[in-house]
Amino acid sequence: MKKESFFIKGLAGKRKLSGEIVVNGAKNACLPVMASSLLFEGGISISNVPKIEDVSRMSELLENLGAKIDSSEDQMNISFSKEISGDLDEEISKRMRASIFLIGPLLSRVGAVSFPHPGGCVIGERPIDLFLFGFEKMGASVEEKNGKYFLKAGRGGLKGAEIFFPFQSVGATETLMMAAVLAKGKTILKNVALEPEVVSLGKFLSSCGAKIKGLGTTTLEIEGGGLLKSNKREHKIIPDRIEAGCFLILGALSATDLLIKNCEPNHLEALIALLGSSGVNIEIGENWIRVKNDILSKSFSGFNIKTHEYPGFPTDLQAPITVFLTQANGSSVVFETLFDSRLNYTADLIKMGADITLWDAHRAMVKGPTPLKGRELDGPDIRAGLAFVIAAIVGRGNSTINNIYYIDRGYEKIEERLRKIKVNIERIGS
Ligand code: UD1
Repeated sequence: MKKESFFIKGLAGKRKLSGEIVVNGAKNACLPVMASSLLFEGGISISNVPKIEDVSRMSELLENLGAKIDSSEDQMNISFSKEISGDLDEEISKRMRASIFLIGPLLSRVGAVSFPHPGGCVIGERPIDLFLFGFEKMGASVEEKNGKYFLKAGRGGLKGAEIFFPFQSVGATETLMMAAVLAKGKTILKNVALEPEVVSLGKFLSSCGAKIKGLGTTTLEIEGGGLLKSNKREHKIIPDRIEAGCFLILGALSATDLLIKNCEPNHLEALIALLGSSGVNIEIGENWIRVKNDILSKSFSGFNIKTHEYPGFPTDLQAPITVFLTQANGSSVVFETLFDSRLNYTADLIKMGADITLWDAHRAMVKGPTPLKGRELDGPDIRAGLAFVIAAIVGRGNSTINNIYYIDRGYEKIEERLRKIKVNIERIGS
């Protein structure tokens, strides 16, 4: 792992940024689509692929299973010509939660799979009970030995089943939907996640022959069949709504006029509604968002947020919006309902001068506005890492953000895109 940092000269709360910033393809949409290549005869072609660490790790995992991958620019072709292995690389899987997406398609294609407990960010306990429960319902046996899982499909492969998820999970919905595509008979998934990345994956599979009903609702009916065919049609990865949301928050705090291009405003309704009611001037087009501010400080009012499954407020924007709330008027309550340790980063914002009181592991009160002071910070995970970048830009003086490997996992060359809108940011170290 390279030890690089970002060095940022803060704007001391002034609004000085302007210009256009482009949103890339979504990490969370790209990774499951890459995993779905296991369901295909003849491979898949995808475009708008972000060049980020997690995509490289997913490519390595697929190559270890036997995939052939060619990429150029933002385009990628993935195909399997030889025998497919069912054993996931332990080192990579332990580092990336999204390795779990491979289990469904692999189990339905190969019939047996082994993998370690998947890793990921340090945002709390990340169990896989829903996945195991779902595969068992589809007839698979599950064995755990020395921290490794061994799953085997029943005789004749996975079979369709009716599965009710006790709560919505993006990853479990995606991997079980993929498993059901090659299973025997009908699978009914109830209380599924509605995130745009889930719907986009389902639409892609349907366009290649999968029989999936109910996309965009909480019940999916999938009729299992044979391998899918993409017929050489290219699938374009949807824009990253979390990246777009971070740019919007940054624009609201620090720009006079910022145009966020290549995004999907419909996927950001919760954020746009809250910022709008707080006083941020936002214009929306078909695939762009523009935020305009007077140079002279206009103050925004604070608001309460509660993270929620889509279309509610996304947990992945919880840290960036907390930075916004440190600059808004009044007291705001942040309620993180999805993950356990996702407010730990607030300790660093407090050191920067934020007035935040942690009520418990899930709730914090933010009083604003408070000026932030630049300092040295460690990027704790993908999403809080970018929140620190926003805090450093808003702050007075210089900040150094270490551990930017975590930011690189999710955002492609973020410093180059930020420099284009006049952020003073450098990548340092080796
Ligand atoms: C995905 C996103 C992540 C986002 C999260 C919630 C990807 C690659 N990652 O993660 O950026 O923060 O959705 O929007 O798409 N859970 C269990 N048991 C399980 C599975 C999940 O208890 O077997 C819990 C989780 O701990 C969490 C909740 O369910 O509390 C929702 O998590 P989930 O939707 O599964 O998140 P991911 O798919 O891991």
